[in-house]
Amino acid sequence: MRFDVLTLFPGIFEGYLSESLLKDAIERGALEVHLHNMRDWANDKHNTMDDRPFGGGPGMVLKVDRIVPCVEEVQTYAERPGRLVMLTPQGRPLTQRVVEELAQEERILLLCGRYEGFDQRVVEILQPDEISIGDYVLNGGEVAAAVVIDSVMRLIPGVLGDENSAVVDSFSSGNRLLEEDQYTRPREYRGLTVPEILLSGDHGAIERWRLSNRREKTLARRPDLLDGEETKIDEDEKKKKKKRPKKAKEPELVAESENVVEAKPSETPEAADATENNVDV
Ligand code: ADE
Repeated sequence: MRFDVLTLFPGIFEGYLSESLLKDAIERGALEVHLHNMRDWANDKHNTMDDRPFGGGPGMVLKVDRIVPCVEEVQTYAERPGRLVMLTPQGRPLTQRVVEELAQEERILLLCGRYEGFDQRVVEILQPDEISIGDYVLNGGEVAAAVVIDSVMRLIPGVLGDENSAVVDSFSSGNRLLEEDQYTRPREYRGLTVPEILLSGDHGAIERWRLSNRREKTLARRPDLLDGEETKIDEDEKKKKKKRPKKAKEPELVAESENVVEAKPSETPEAADATENNVDV
């Protein structure tokens, strides 16, 4: 996938692009990110990109006769013009569904505004997909563009180490619930312990605990996410239950139980580390 970022401040992206997953993905050729300084399209001696708004008012407006030629030229830099996204607080909200939609594209141009925004004729001529990352105002579209790149790149095959991890992320098409609570060593810290069920090695019980933890958390924090989803999950559960052969009794897996089933040694974080780093478990 190819991103072209059109900005007055390309330097903002440099640190971000040269670290971690993004750096690896770019080096492996799974992702291309091209930065374009829109000021290169200013054609006067003062490099003017903005001007005072007609009708008065605060701030400056990005000029249509600079921005449109810039976008049109960058569109010719690859075989296809790509999808033009304008980052603006007035856009449609960026949700995981929108991220999934963007991840289908071969090429995305990210147009970052500054100051009071763009002359409205930029929108009329270029008809961008206007996207907002939230109901707050940033100093410009750069941070929002980085959010788009970051969220979309996770869905591109070969970018994340574990292909499944993006599918189970909160809000993803495989899971519209918030993620369950996660724990790793130590088993006890300041008197707080890890839920015993996670140490039980009983995968069925662990899965059930995870699902109920996700639902409780989503209901408490983001009930809006459950619209329609909860019913769907309940139906899926009913279907599963019908298929599941009846068991005599679920094993007791609470902390008080004397017969707590331990996870197989190979499934504990200690064991994973021990194999990798030879630490004492
Ligand atoms: N530019 C300024 N604020 C923004 C926001 N909330 N989302 C996208 N672009 C922006």
